[in-house]
Amino acid sequence: MIPALIPAPHALTVHDGSFELTADTAVSGPECHATRFLTALLRRATGYAPPPSPEGAIVLSLDGPADLGEEGYRLDVSAGAVRLRARTEEGLFRGVQTLRQLLPAGIESPVPVPGPWPVPCVSITDKPRFRWRGVMLDVARHFFDVAAVKRFVDRAVPYKFNVLHLHLTDDQGWRLEIASHPRLTGHGGTSQVGEGPGGHFSRADFAEIVAYAAAHHMTVVPEIDLPGHTQAAMASYPHLAPEGVTPELYRGIDVGFSQLAVHKPTTYDFLDEVFTEVASLAPGPYLHVGGDEALQTTAEDYAAFMTRTLPLATRQGKTVVAWQEAAAAPALPEGTHLQYWRPTHEPVPAPLADAASRGVPLIMSPANRAYLDMKYDETSELGLIWAGALGVRQSYEWDPEAVVPGARVAGVEAPLWSETLTTSDDIDHMLYPRLPGLAEVAWSPAPKDWSSYVPRLRAHTLRWDAAGITSYHRSPELGEG
Ligand code: ACM
Repeated sequence: MIPALIPAPHALTVHDGSFELTADTAVSGPECHATRFLTALLRRATGYAPPPSPEGAIVLSLDGPADLGEEGYRLDVSAGAVRLRARTEEGLFRGVQTLRQLLPAGIESPVPVPGPWPVPCVSITDKPRFRWRGVMLDVARHFFDVAAVKRFVDRAVPYKFNVLHLHLTDDQGWRLEIASHPRLTGHGGTSQVGEGPGGHFSRADFAEIVAYAAAHHMTVVPEIDLPGHTQAAMASYPHLAPEGVTPELYRGIDVGFSQLAVHKPTTYDFLDEVFTEVASLAPGPYLHVGGDEALQTTAEDYAAFMTRTLPLATRQGKTVVAWQEAAAAPALPEGTHLQYWRPTHEPVPAPLADAASRGVPLIMSPANRAYLDMKYDETSELGLIWAGALGVRQSYEWDPEAVVPGARVAGVEAPLWSETLTTSDDIDHMLYPRLPGLAEVAWSPAPKDWSSYVPRLRAHTLRWDAAGITSYHRSPELGEG
């Protein structure tokens, strides 16, 4: 039987027989996140706690062949041993997720459950199609605390995502403490959509998230959305607003009504100070500056704003990421990534096509394929539907390289906007069962075959059950077990 691996590996051969994990099965490997993660995972679900052994039956090592690249791995399971090799600790970590999926679904249990624990004998050589495989959580429309963000990371890890994009600021709230501007969170963090109290991450909270993501080989990409989506900032510091605007905290779900004072020099002093702190809190290489839906900003002002703002980000040593509208900036700094978000049935805007033809890398998040906040169908209680309903098959069956022909595609990201979401169970409902398919779009070789995918996805529902994930969408598209 073909094991139900998601994302499907690059190359898989199944052999006869299986390896049996027992109370004596020791793990050995380099001192790294992958070894620790695997040891803890096995102990949690099996209750077995063999002493670590230099020559365990499960051996992780950093001597993989060179062609595996940064995140590739080679996994060989025979009746007597499990051997996982990679070039990097990151590669080992991705390989551990595959080994995890080869074990019975009970391995996801948060408490010990009875075995047996067979692992089918296989040879797998694997590496990702795209280097950027992201998930995004909007903590601005509704605030989600550190525990909820960690749980979100836990959901992405088994599917080999490597980017955690946090949408930290919007009209409804500013969620990251900035020491030089305490009212951003002290006032601007106290609202959210509806009646709730909002909330924010202290600097220590954010450091905890960054460390947790790093321990799971995920890079945090912080987003400060500019120059629109800025009501919470302006309500906190009215001098950031254009003359004549008296900002108040906002609790609705409209977009496109706010803009910073793009002509005032003090706006850029503010951004410089904010970027300095954000860059020091998020050590990864990227800073996302938003740039979407600045509907109150003229084209001329938008261009002038980006011309002043983008160098403030690169001055921090960061590579800029921005939503696709930023293609209209007169000069994109070297390395800038643009994030495609409009539905694929809309024509590609000329500035974006032009940027793509110049080799600007694109992160593909088209709303009618990758926006996990879209309703599954018209009957869904949660979610929005402006880009259309987004079923499981529709989010799976697409090619990121076919959206803007000839573009350099850095990868795929699945954004989860939170206008309608208030709990972690709401998040799970929108993620599952669509997230694994987007992982396969991002990791596995093209093309995609729904009929081979859907039995694997169905098998994964047993893993979610074992993990105690109760709120996933019971999609009729998965058919009968
Ligand atoms: C977006 O959905 N406004 C990026």
